[in-house]
Amino acid sequence: MAREKQDRYSVISIILHWTIAVLLIANVYVGGWLEEAPQAEKLARLEWHKSIGLTVLFLSLFRLGWRIAHPWPALPETMKSWEKILARFTHYGFYVVMIGVPLLGWLAVSFRGTPELPLWGFIPAPNLPVGESRELGGMFADWHHTSVKAIYLLLALHVTGALKHYFVDRDIVPARMIPGLPRIK
Ligand code: HEM
Ligand code: HEM
Repeated sequence: MAREKQDRYSVISIILHWTIAVLLIANVYVGGWLEEAPQAEKLARLEWHKSIGLTVLFLSLFRLGWRIAHPWPALPETMKSWEKILARFTHYGFYVVMIGVPLLGWLAVSFRGTPELPLWGFIPAPNLPVGESRELGGMFADWHHTSVKAIYLLLALHVTGALKHYFVDRDIVPARMIPGLPRIK
């Protein structure tokens, strides 16, 4: 299997990482904007939220396939074993939320029988074939809300880790995902 190079991720991995990161964080805000919408604007805002969210879902599935075909670069030997476990826990956790959070939202709208809004105004995106149930729709909407908290937790761990690698360990880890980042001597 073609492992990504030791010193950096491939261009595909880097583009996917940053595209998904920006869209995922943006959609947390768009979700809040959707929650505050007056009734007349709910569907228009949901269309944006669904378009961004399902784009995250499909890019993340592609990324997971890419990751399986191209294992990530090894973590530096200088890292302690608990640091490696925490780093990998955070990375696997991100895959769970990158796929799970939009899927829960999609299940919620599908069970509720919400109108089948297209993605980006033109790509058909039907509801999942699950039938209608207000109760299950409400349950998946609750799980969707709660699962967003996992994003905050993982992001806090991930960014703290990146800062520690950069300012304390001063190793190659941040630069291999942030091209052009100057190394601290
Ligand atoms: C990147 C993916 C996603 C993120 C980060 C996300 C995040 C959020 C957030 C933060 C809220 C507001 C929750 C609150 O204020 O308590 C929300 C609400 C909502 N999201 Fe998502 N979402 C995503 C994908 C989706 C998708 C793909 C759908 C549907 C196709 C969806 C459907 C909904 C609905 C219907 C609500 C309002 C729930 C209600 O009626 O109470 N979301 N989302
Ligand atoms: C919600 C936003 C983010 C998500 C979902 C995310 C997700 C991930 C995932 C899953 C990996 C594992 C590598 C892989 O699968 O290819 C990774 C690696 C990485 N991320 Fe993020 N990330 C986010 C935001 C950030 C931010 C804001 C930074 C910068 C401070 C950052 C810096 C890095 C670095 C440096 C690596 C490489 C770690 C290594 O070499 O092992 N990420 N990220």
